[in-house]
Amino acid sequence: MRSLYNAIGFRIRKALRFRRPGVVLPNETKTDLFEFAKREERPSLIVRENELRKRYSLDPLFHASSRYIYRDNLYWLEGLERCFEGLALQQAKEVKIVDVGSNNFHYAFALTRFFRVAFCAQKIDMCGYEIDGHVIYADLRSRADYAAAYLEQAQVGRYVVGDFVASTERDADVVTMFFPFLTKDALLWWGLPLDFFSPAALIKRASECVKPGGFLVVWNQTDEEVNQLDKFLEGMTPVLRVRLRTNIVDYGEATDDRVGSVFRVPLCDGGTRG
Ligand SMILES: C[S@@+](CC[C@H](N)C(=O)[O-])C[C@H]1O[C@@H](n2cnc3c(N)ncnc32)[C@H](O)[C@@H]1O
Repeated sequence: MRSLYNAIGFRIRKALRFRRPGVVLPNETKTDLFEFAKREERPSLIVRENELRKRYSLDPLFHASSRYIYRDNLYWLEGLERCFEGLALQQAKEVKIVDVGSNNFHYAFALTRFFRVAFCAQKIDMCGYEIDGHVIYADLRSRADYAAAYLEQAQVGRYVVGDFVASTERDADVVTMFFPFLTKDALLWWGLPLDFFSPAALIKRASECVKPGGFLVVWNQTDEEVNQLDKFLEGMTPVLRVRLRTNIVDYGEATDDRVGSVFRVPLCDGGTRG
């Protein structure tokens, strides 16, 4: 029943392709940004925020974001730092990133800044794919409208509303998948019909999109999902697997079981880069 309801909603959104561009990103104060944290944890969170702001030149985001979105970008940066800790990345002039299932791409800023710094890159080419980009919010803006605003803020990137499985995207230095649907319940809860439940195909396509020597980064909600991921990626061993628990966001408890995995696609001669 839920799937049928979602299928009707999805078809209507797809047919309407509703857009109302011109999203103005808010500039909420960042005073007491960690007011939700325990008093004794706040000083270290403030130090961490300062560190990340400096390292990744976050001022444009700091001055034009909600508190929630700003903290979420801090979380993405923290998580990516953990995922790549100790991995020697080879400098690259240009880095191509493909993000699979971008929602409204509210973490685009963190994503581009992280990889620009990690690869010492001069240019970032980034594309986010989202199958349900025409979801309309209460303010009558769509996911795609918000994604356009976040990408403008990050000054880089494209957002494609479409099925990544059907895309011809290839040769990415990094493919990211943050919380792909590995259970039917999650997919239904997010408003998609069961026809789109094809985690094996999605993950296979994502791994094929990475160029030899490049990285596939996957974040999952639970260890159970990680086990499933490993089954789908049979034959690939993560070069790093880390916990993504944090207290930098006000939903810290929900991050308790999160896990990040990084896979490196072998070079054609069997070696790896970096
Ligand atoms: C759990 S959400 C995660 C969203 C985002 N990555 C985040 O972390 O906030 C998974 C997203 O993947 C999208 N998605 C699912 N299947 C897809 C496909 N085949 N192609 C593109 N996007 C897809 C969904 O619509 C949803 O927005």
